Amino acid sequence: MAQAQIGIYGLGTMGSALALNMAEHGFDVAVTNRETDWIAPFVEEASAFSARLYPKERLTDFVAALRTPRVILFMIPSGAPMDAMLEEITPLLSPGDTVIDGGNADFHDTRRRAAQLTERDLHFVGLGVSGGEAGARHGPSMMLGGSRHSWAQLEPILTSIAATYDGTPCVAHLGPDGAGHFVKTVHNGIEYADMQVIAEIYSLLRNGSAMPPAEIGALFADWDRGLLKSYLVEITAQLLTYTDPETGHPMVDVIKDAAGQKGTGRWTVIEALRMGQSASMIEAAVGARGWSSEKDTRQRAETLLGGAVGAFDGTPEVLAEAFLAARILAYAQGFRILSAASEEYHWSLDAATIARIWRAGCIIRSALLDDIAAAFDLGLPQDELILSPQMAQTLSRCIPSLRQVVCSAVHGGHPVPALSAGLAWYDSMRLGHGSANIIQAQRDMFGHHGFERLGRTGLHHGPWWD
Ligand code: 6PG
Repeated sequence: MAQAQIGIYGLGTMGSALALNMAEHGFDVAVTNRETDWIAPFVEEASAFSARLYPKERLTDFVAALRTPRVILFMIPSGAPMDAMLEEITPLLSPGDTVIDGGNADFHDTRRRAAQLTERDLHFVGLGVSGGEAGARHGPSMMLGGSRHSWAQLEPILTSIAATYDGTPCVAHLGPDGAGHFVKTVHNGIEYADMQVIAEIYSLLRNGSAMPPAEIGALFADWDRGLLKSYLVEITAQLLTYTDPETGHPMVDVIKDAAGQKGTGRWTVIEALRMGQSASMIEAAVGARGWSSEKDTRQRAETLLGGAVGAFDGTPEVLAEAFLAARILAYAQGFRILSAASEEYHWSLDAATIARIWRAGCIIRSALLDDIAAAFDLGLPQDELILSPQMAQTLSRCIPSLRQVVCSAVHGGHPVPALSAGLAWYDSMRLGHGSANIIQAQRDMFGHHGFERLGRTGLHHGPWWD
């Protein structure tokens, strides 16, 4: 008899954690996995909740175990495996059933799949899930893109298992088809920028002020009690206190300085550029990860070009203010991309809702997001976060520190791509009169492209054409 309220296909780290979270909250969950030998050990380990888990080895049995209209969550690698599974499962489904992709999928794929399933009266949801394994198990932040029908099916389950902030579940129906996966992608882009800013600040303290990792960790722990309170600051404070059991050295000193990346940061930048936006801090973070992975080249360059760096001249207080300014700028760039995509794809994304569901459970959760949600609640345009009275006030106070930090870093030869990109963007945006008149004159002179003239309408050409 069909009993399960939801089925989860994929018992890797995230799928298992979500299944346990749902079972713990009283939902009956059918579970299966491509490698069927993973299923029994999972259920055995989950003994406390086994009455709520319905393990199935065959896809037909898995589908048959679900109440209709069915809800099936796939937690499998994104890309080709998702298309292959859709091929396999759709013949077994009935009109009104919903298939969910809970991975970090490219939102273009999600849009395509949603359109494909609509043709068969099926629903496809792109669900962004943030918070890593612990989040999935005890309360993730979730960004849903899909139909109202699917949201009605999923809302009771997702609101029960989500993280909460002041009692509000960190999950929302953000729009149709790819909206949820797009918002998750931009979440990750902001995550990249925030992580890069933290790495730059760490490096200034370590290499420019000779501060030992544990001391920097203590400073981050202190920051985590104030305006910079956030998950990424919290875990950085913790990880800096660890020692390598093998060598006795600080753990961070034995980790190779070559960052990995799975693609969501890059997608954010690509989509931003495609829509005529520049998420320069996210781009800086993606680029810095790329350069970091060229360890051999950097080592040869150090010998040839010299790798010495000067002293960093800035107090922890100045660094904290610079960090806060940079964090506001990174969020602001992220929300600008969301605003552009909302318009391009007619999603009607609500920035306040997005800020609210990012306040707990996800990787970029921070104290700042509550203020950002409040600013958007007051009707602030989504692409103008830096103009909200509160953010503008904080920026006016903190930008001198960001300027001091970037100046000292540049002077000492310390790379600060994200901090300096943030500052350059801020300085570009605060000038009512910039330098693009020169670009326009050049374009007209070499290509007769024409320009707008101040105070006049129409397209004009320079006297160089007379
Ligand atoms: C999250 C994270 C997660 C992401 C990792 C790794 O919100 O839980 O964003 O989805 O996969 O952060 O991403 P990279 O490997 O690209 O750093």
